[in-house]
Amino acid sequence: MNISIIGTGYVGLVTGVCLAYKGHKVFCADKQQHIIDSISRGVSPIYEQQLDSMLAHVIKNNDLKATTDLNQAVMESEITIIAVGTPYIGDQIALTYIKEAAHEVGAILKNKKDYHVVCVKSTVVPTTTDTIVLPILKQASGKELGDFGLVMNPEFLKEGEAVQDFLNPDRIIIGAIDEKSYEVFKNIYQYHFDAPIIKVNPRTAEMIKYASNSLLATLISFSNEIAAISEEAGGIDALKVMESVGLDKRFTPKVRGQLIKPDATKYLKPGRGFGGSCFPKDIKSLISFSVQRGYDPKILKSVIAVNELQIKRILCTLKKELSGIQDKTIAILGLAFKANTDDVRESQSIKLIRELKEAGTKLKCYDPAAVEKAKTELLGCDGVEFFNDYREALEGTDAAILMTDWEFITSIPFSEYVKFMKAPAVFDCCRALDHAKAKFYGVKYIGIGFRE
Ligand code: UGA
Repeated sequence: MNISIIGTGYVGLVTGVCLAYKGHKVFCADKQQHIIDSISRGVSPIYEQQLDSMLAHVIKNNDLKATTDLNQAVMESEITIIAVGTPYIGDQIALTYIKEAAHEVGAILKNKKDYHVVCVKSTVVPTTTDTIVLPILKQASGKELGDFGLVMNPEFLKEGEAVQDFLNPDRIIIGAIDEKSYEVFKNIYQYHFDAPIIKVNPRTAEMIKYASNSLLATLISFSNEIAAISEEAGGIDALKVMESVGLDKRFTPKVRGQLIKPDATKYLKPGRGFGGSCFPKDIKSLISFSVQRGYDPKILKSVIAVNELQIKRILCTLKKELSGIQDKTIAILGLAFKANTDDVRESQSIKLIRELKEAGTKLKCYDPAAVEKAKTELLGCDGVEFFNDYREALEGTDAAILMTDWEFITSIPFSEYVKFMKAPAVFDCCRALDHAKAKFYGVKYIGIGFRE
């Protein structure tokens, strides 16, 4: 099929490259010329495993064309996927870019004779597709539903694993506004992907996305609450607790003698809390959507509250363990919101750095990929130094805090902490290190959900 995609961020570009890789002809449209130039050269403007090589491949084969000419992209395709950003402003998502894209596509459809399906892929709160996008399309095109089609097709891509998630989906959700839209749109996936296609209406599709992210975030906050209770009680290892909870066969079934460990059990782990461009924003958006409709979402509010508390609890622990943090020098190991990405949006590490700065701590930060983005994020934050070598970050420090579980960081030998730090003490906020080994090397170990 010929497909046009509006927006070349994480979602738009990964979708475009993967669909082209699967044999479709794809136009990736964006208003920013430098991004289009980069894609056209086969160089991915975003950091994502496998994307560079696949992009180079589909550009070389002429299966993907990057363009600023939306008119040509829509006219020469049968389906247009809207994958623009929905920034969180105030206490809800802003639909400015969605509305703009819908308006532009609608205006182009006015002059198009053939049937065309528009798809909303951006994460939007329920009712957005049928009560906001549809009227704009009708008004801008001067056409009725049936002359064009409309679907909502959410994405489930994890940063760092987005390409594999796209190529091997768990489920394909198609929230179609009518039968004809569904019949045309499903051809994108039907013969190319091995996953169940779930046919629903647009509002249900929108809610599936929010419910999925909310449940995963709830698992994290639940684990962190168990960790907090364990810390207060003392002598409990919350990591062992949650690992054992996850071994219940309802989470980890045994099939033909083999334990099947679902990825979801990874979220049953105490740690520094969640961040990134999705979980915090999506849960807050669902909360405000719910409140506006008269339901007070108590669980979702607690999920956010526990996550925000996590940074405060880390600070309190540090103050206690170091007998105060003013004028102390602390190494921050990991700046990205999770491993294998350079993304620092809503990173718990960045939030902790701000709090520590406020408290008068000197900070030496290391990350294998996110230093440049963290520098921009923390611009004007004096007394924060950045290093591309963890040894320099550890040099002369009173404590090291492990905030992102990059293998580059979790594999640092304990002997290096002893060698470079003033006082070898590590606060493991990812529960990625072996506390017995730390003790053996003479490194003081503190962990989320672990107090000796
Ligand atoms: C998340 C979802 O996992 C995707 O399915 C979804 O498509 C995407 O949001 C989206 O809405 O676009 P992502 O934010 O890339 O993907 O990352 P995750 O790997 O799910 O991690 C989210 C946050 O939870 C990170 O801060 C991560 O460090 C944290 N996390 C994850 C934990 O604190 N503990 C864990 O055990 C797992």
